[in-house]
Amino acid sequence: MDKKYYIANWKSNKTSDEAVNFLKVLQENIDRVNFDKKEVIIAPPFTLLEKCKNIIDANSLPIKLSSQDVSPFPKGAYTGEVNAQQIKEFASYVIIGHSERRRYFNENERIISNKVGEAVESGLDVIQCVQDENDKVEEHVSLVAYEPPSAIGSGNPDSPEHIAEVFNHISDIYPKVKLLYGGSVNEKNINTFLNIKNLSGFLIGGASLNADSFITLLNG
Ligand code: PGA
Repeated sequence: MDKKYYIANWKSNKTSDEAVNFLKVLQENIDRVNFDKKEVIIAPPFTLLEKCKNIIDANSLPIKLSSQDVSPFPKGAYTGEVNAQQIKEFASYVIIGHSERRRYFNENERIISNKVGEAVESGLDVIQCVQDENDKVEEHVSLVAYEPPSAIGSGNPDSPEHIAEVFNHISDIYPKVKLLYGGSVNEKNINTFLNIKNLSGFLIGGASLNADSFITLLNG
């Protein structure tokens, strides 16, 4: 079996001090963490990418970075946006199309498609979120995270059986993508998902905010 992805989506959480502390705890416990066949990725807010990268590099931590979003435009006069080239300086991955972006920021297929185009052109690996098996997966996307909105932050994850069904549908149409599950995954329930056919990892929100929980989850 290939390696599994564990992606910590910090969303709009953590100050600089809190991020430093998280990485400090992770570093202090690094021997407790089983990194075997795992790609561990942290997706902090844009403001913390550089700081996290500096700490990861200085301590040779086996962790990659992702942004949580990207501008649908190249560099230029787009006030407030952070473009793919800027992200690439610090991160290897980008999350695109999270349902919170669709819900609160009116993101639609066209915007998602432009974002994927920008990210791919800059050499970022795209983690595209889909809400169900009917969402279109963009070309050149390598990782697809199935995240049913009702499971996000609710404490009610989707059932392993239903996740497997959705994965089957998606892999029928997009045989090359790696499939992740996200939605109320935590250190207590992660074991129940590990045997799902075609599962390549997890997108983890709430349970990734506390370093101890995250370490326990990684060892799950
Ligand atoms: P959750 O969030 O783990 O807090 O449910 C997952 C996500 O939205 O990526």
